[in-house]
Amino acid sequence: MKSINITATYTIYENLAELPESIQNLMKQAIMARKNAYAPYSKFLVGAAVLLNNSQIILGNNQENAAYPSGLCAERVALFSASANFPKTKIKALAITASPKDGILSNPVAPCGACRQVIAEYEFKQQNPLPIYFMGKVGKIIKTNSIKDLLPLAFDKTFL
Ligand code: THU
Repeated sequence: MKSINITATYTIYENLAELPESIQNLMKQAIMARKNAYAPYSKFLVGAAVLLNNSQIILGNNQENAAYPSGLCAERVALFSASANFPKTKIKALAITASPKDGILSNPVAPCGACRQVIAEYEFKQQNPLPIYFMGKVGKIIKTNSIKDLLPLAFDKTFL
């Protein structure tokens, strides 16, 4: 028997101005997308922006439904749209921002478990790390260099 220790590494940026310019722009687009979220039930707005290797940016936001489980998170709306429209283009970065509609969340909001699984799929597919930047409405931004820092021991196609 042996125990193995898995470490996760992340970077904290104090504010948007500290981010590299291209990521600052990406996060600003995610913020714009957040404002268009369709979240009448939770009133929790999430925006996501996917930066592709061809410099295109694909936006997503959470889309809720009166039949609650039929809704989808912002990250998956953006990633599925990117994959549907640019199936062969690698992803350079993903930016996420979230906050209650009428509140100001200053803690970075990490992607949910299902979105982590979807991010892992695309990172595995492209065989390049997929950096993820996430924030609340204001304040600090957390960056992970790879989904491996958010989802260790992930399930992937090698098990099938
Ligand atoms: N949500 C996201 O869009 N992304 C996440 O990673 C976590 C949760 C959405 C789903 C739902 O519309 C609302 O936030 C409250 O859970």
